Amino acid sequence: MTDSRPDPVEVHLPDDHAARALAKDAREGLGATPKTLPPKWFYDARGSELFEQITRLPEYYPTRAERAILAARADEIAAVTGAHTLVELGSGSSEKTRLLLDALRGAGTLAHIVALDVSETALREAAAALTAEYPGVQVSGVVGDFTEHLGLLPGEPPRLVAFLGGTVGNFLPAERAEFLAAIREVLQPGEWLLLGTDLVKDPETLVRAYDDAAGVTAEFNRNVLHVLNRELGADFDPADFDHVARWDPDHEWIEMRLRARRALTATIPALGIDVSFAEGEEIRTEVSTKFRRERVATELAAAGFGLEGWWTDEEGRFALSLSRAE
Ligand code: SAH
Ligand code: AVI
Repeated sequence: MTDSRPDPVEVHLPDDHAARALAKDAREGLGATPKTLPPKWFYDARGSELFEQITRLPEYYPTRAERAILAARADEIAAVTGAHTLVELGSGSSEKTRLLLDALRGAGTLAHIVALDVSETALREAAAALTAEYPGVQVSGVVGDFTEHLGLLPGEPPRLVAFLGGTVGNFLPAERAEFLAAIREVLQPGEWLLLGTDLVKDPETLVRAYDDAAGVTAEFNRNVLHVLNRELGADFDPADFDHVARWDPDHEWIEMRLRARRALTATIPALGIDVSFAEGEEIRTEVSTKFRRERVATELAAAGFGLEGWWTDEEGRFALSLSRAE
């Protein structure tokens, strides 16, 4: 029997989004000194699957720590917010989100689930699963960019916006301020933001989490080169690049880089450019900021949110904060 329900997923990115927006980012980032690329380009179908594998690695504690906090606090979050709509940004598989959804359903308030992600494959899979698991609840999947498409999100108030996994740490500070202000802008006073933030801890633990023994994070990092090859016709050999994960104590962030093992030149036909690397030259592909409570509270306040709840896992590795739009 064919399924006659409407497709729950709306695509807000044009077909050539990857090619056009990536072209701009690659031209700017690979033309800069030092070279950089934005982390959102990791997440094609393969990158999203590699990220899911990362979440199961023994060294990568953030997912387990955040899940433990959600397991302990979801009922309280549901009771306090009384949310009718759960909006999840950068939702990926929405795996941990089930804890919140179950609590909101148990409290009798959940009417609508909205998930937004740039990865169409991850989003379609998650939306199909959520539709099956939460009968009677409207599910909307939005394929989009959370730095551009917050204004397009459906959903009835009171809304709870969840931004989990520590993804807020992948912004640079100025981008983060802009992003938090943009979320505040789309919310009404009294609506809610649930934010997952990884916390500052000893550098060994942090570096291990981003440089695992099985090499999955290295493959995730190199995946951006596969994306450049596919979308822009580039001729990078990912094996020419070493994965580097480094703690920067001044910025309190982990940086992931790709370091050229030899001097080389890559051609990017879609951009009409060649990009040369000296031996040892690096591309910064991601920052993953680690937070302290004061910083989270200050940045939320600057964006117009009042902190109402702050919870960590038992080992104090990760925090979830609940704040209210003022
Ligand atoms: N929230 C999930 C997934 C985190 S991985 C968790 O906690 O496990 C980061 C997710 O954000 C990925 O699914 C990726 O596709 C998405 N993402 C990254 N940059 C994005 C952007 N600019 N707009 C929308 N989604 C983005
Ligand atoms: C999605 N984001 C929070 C992950 C992180 O930990 O910064 C992405 C990641 N990068 C390497 N491993 C996981």
